[in-house]
Amino acid sequence: MSKLLIEGGYKLKGKVNISGFKNAAVAIIPASILAGDLCNIENLPNIEDVHVLKRILKELGAKVDFHEEKKVMQVNTANVKECFVSYELAKELRASYYLLGASLGRFKKAKVAFPGGCNIGSRPIDQHIKGFEALGAKVTIEHGIIHAEAEELIGAEIYLDVVSVGATINIMMAACMAKGKTIIENAAKEPHIVDVANFLNAMGADIRGAGTDVIKIKGVEKMKGCTYSVIPDQIEAGTFMLMAAATGGDVIIDNVIPKHLDPITAKLREMGLQVEEYGESLRVVGKDQLKNVNIKTLVYPGFPTDLQQPMSAILTQAKGTSIVTETIYEGRFKHVSELKRMGAKVKVEGNVAVFEGVDRLSGAKVSATDLRAGAALVIAGLMAQGITEVDNVHYIDRGYELIEKKLLNLGAKIKRSE
Ligand code: EPZ
Repeated sequence: MSKLLIEGGYKLKGKVNISGFKNAAVAIIPASILAGDLCNIENLPNIEDVHVLKRILKELGAKVDFHEEKKVMQVNTANVKECFVSYELAKELRASYYLLGASLGRFKKAKVAFPGGCNIGSRPIDQHIKGFEALGAKVTIEHGIIHAEAEELIGAEIYLDVVSVGATINIMMAACMAKGKTIIENAAKEPHIVDVANFLNAMGADIRGAGTDVIKIKGVEKMKGCTYSVIPDQIEAGTFMLMAAATGGDVIIDNVIPKHLDPITAKLREMGLQVEEYGESLRVVGKDQLKNVNIKTLVYPGFPTDLQQPMSAILTQAKGTSIVTETIYEGRFKHVSELKRMGAKVKVEGNVAVFEGVDRLSGAKVSATDLRAGAALVIAGLMAQGITEVDNVHYIDRGYELIEKKLLNLGAKIKRSE
């Protein structure tokens, strides 16, 4: 089991290069099944979730070659038969549910065990199932395995009851080769929805409206291979912006789409920081004393739930009272008990956490309970006095490429111990 040891109190300075977007990559890799052909997927992050998907696709019969340094995956899904993804593989990550949409779309059949992923709430998949059923699939659940099957898929109008990233992407994938037109209403608008739609279109799909709340998909007969480059990781970029802010540093965050980071930029400015935007980079110039702010997580373009935990780490030291309201996941405050070990003053009631800023956190042994909780604890460690020891680093490795290397380059005192 790896641990990260962080000595706090050093201002981050320099430039960090942001990797490809995890949450787009983990949908794009399964979506390649729809091509039945060779896809070159570029700018993939070298993270654990990508390696797990590589293993799953290989098991399904695909030829997969991931060049970690070039960050390119060549995946040929010509020999994939219909998907059966066992519990052992599906439990490794949330995104295993995308194999349902991709396999159903190509083979009109899929069998996938319930997905795993971060334990941050109940995370039902009823909207995915509702979408598949609307397209004409029969969906049953037996012994923890979701079976979806259709004679043929027929385009339909689907109104999502909940704005769901996963359901929007899964339905888009299943509908690409359905007969006729599918309309998804109340669709999610996150940047990775647009990225996945662009990838599907590059493979021959006909999808319009991604990035708005109405997505229209005209079914095509066949899809084909393509070369595609994944967009930069909005959440990794936001995490580094927060790291710069946490340490009062001066960091250029490179290879980003600044528009995707507007909600974070706005909050950091409200906290008294300077954020400069350039074409594909952002500069965050910190301050020694941060102002308190309130945060409410919302679907895009609101403040992303995936940055709520990293942001709350900073609020432990912002002057005054800050209120954090989590509206997406009921279980996303598990990092709070760990922050308290470091001296944070926080009260949680239901989906609201109230932070009273303290002068300085103190380094302690803490445990990551999920991916973004892990990032939050690293941020807390960067701010704290003394040494912070973060264990369960495998959660962090699922979504952040070379986190300690990137931090070392910025002047942090951090090392991994196995
Ligand atoms: C994606 O999860 C991301 N994961 C999450 O990132 C992210 O937090 C989330 O979107 C919200 O932005 C991946 O892309 C792999 P949702 P997803 O379906 O698709 C409810 C990270 O840290 N819901 O948009 O699973 C659900 O319970 C991870 O990188 C239903 O009720 O999230 C939640 O309250 C964690 N029924 C809300 O909708 C459904 O059928 C949003 O979930 C589906 C979802």
